[in-house]
Amino acid sequence: MKKPKQTDLLEKIVSLCKRRGFVFPGSEIYGGLAGTWDYGHYGVLLKENLKQSWWQYFVGSRSDMFRFDAAILMNQKVWRASGHAEGFADPLVECEKCKKQFREDQLERSDLSTDLRSDLCSDCGGKLSEVRQFNMMFKTQVGAEEGKDSVSYLRPETAQGMFTNFKNALDAYHPKLPFGLAQIGKAFRNEIAPRDFLFRTREFEQMEIEYFVNPKDWEKSFEDFRLETKKWLAEIGLASEKIHELEVPDGERAHYSKRTIDFEFDFPFGRKELYGLAYRTDFDLANHARVSGVSLEYLDDESKEKFIPHVIEPSFGLDRIVLALLCATYTEDEMNNEKRTYLKLSPKIAPVKVAVFPLLRNKPELVKKALEVYGNLKVANIGVIEFDDNGNIGKRYRRQDEIGTPFCITIDFDSLEKEDVTVRDRDSGKQERLPISGLPEFLKKKLIE
Ligand code: GAP
Repeated sequence: MKKPKQTDLLEKIVSLCKRRGFVFPGSEIYGGLAGTWDYGHYGVLLKENLKQSWWQYFVGSRSDMFRFDAAILMNQKVWRASGHAEGFADPLVECEKCKKQFREDQLERSDLSTDLRSDLCSDCGGKLSEVRQFNMMFKTQVGAEEGKDSVSYLRPETAQGMFTNFKNALDAYHPKLPFGLAQIGKAFRNEIAPRDFLFRTREFEQMEIEYFVNPKDWEKSFEDFRLETKKWLAEIGLASEKIHELEVPDGERAHYSKRTIDFEFDFPFGRKELYGLAYRTDFDLANHARVSGVSLEYLDDESKEKFIPHVIEPSFGLDRIVLALLCATYTEDEMNNEKRTYLKLSPKIAPVKVAVFPLLRNKPELVKKALEVYGNLKVANIGVIEFDDNGNIGKRYRRQDEIGTPFCITIDFDSLEKEDVTVRDRDSGKQERLPISGLPEFLKKKLIE
């Protein structure tokens, strides 16, 4: 078993994703649109499994969390209060010759030279412009009337929809501190230089929690989430040795944060941020209270103290997690003297759990029996089951291996007589014969427990 060279790995993953229908380049037939990707069938299933696991781990299994799904478009005042209208900007430089744009903080320059003016365009050698701050929010207009009052933005983080609903949550659910609001949804950033497949895109999904605490307790909640987020990553199959914590120093944190840990992952293009944990203090609630004029204080029933809660925010980028999982599980080996590629995804996260094959597609009795087994497994509550009779058995195994399907079941002539099948394990390639009647129980054990 081996991993390809890091430099080749990303290219191989992009190619597998397209070949097998996980992810396609956005607007491809028109030449694409930089920073956008379209998820296909298996990509959607993979994301759905990750979302479900996240909901269950951070919300379903706890009693201090509430689900949210706020609108993407918000009143423009939200972004003034949150500081995004002013401060959500990246430093931009442009080649004066070919007009290519770069993020100044991502330019690779010689260790000796910190003088930006000495940098040249990596594409054409042209001179680079002065740095200017570029606001990354996508601007849009709400309604038919153009004008400054109709301006809105596609949200650059899901978080603000939870801050602006803080009072609604207090009034509707009467929660006691500490409690959290959780949301999964799209976020948009007009990145200067989208790159590295799903890593830096202009449209992506976030899974965020805003956890409201008494300010005196913030350190405990921060530490709890530091440990919980790592446990969840281990549960979905991202081993702890691939995750590294970076304490973000003063001056480099987002404008709202007093403490941030970036959890980094060893991607093929370097060690980069996978997700972040931030202590946002009362920055957001206090600013929304000030700008909206609505009190966002919490009354502690016992101490009768009134205060604005502070916030701990674990923020995951779903697409980065998908990419990290693909990088961590992409494997090449040799089986029966043939090279093969497979995704060693955890069965809980794998898009398809089981594929059912008739040995030969032109034998109606085998197809009929295979369809019967497939139909019974589909209602056995073990996840997505696929029927596959395309090409020869070898090709079907290769396809399912690349999708990451943990088990393949083949119906052959013996199955008709003995009511049994072969079950092949994705990772070892080992096959065992099992009675058809015992399949649901066997698979449930392997896939769910
Ligand atoms: N609410 C806090 C927040 O948005 P962030 O560090 O800017 O913090 C959180 O973003 C996470 O969102 C990142 O750790 C990353 O996983 C994901 N993310 C941010 N920008 C992204 C982009 N351009 N493409 C894909 N994922 C992105």
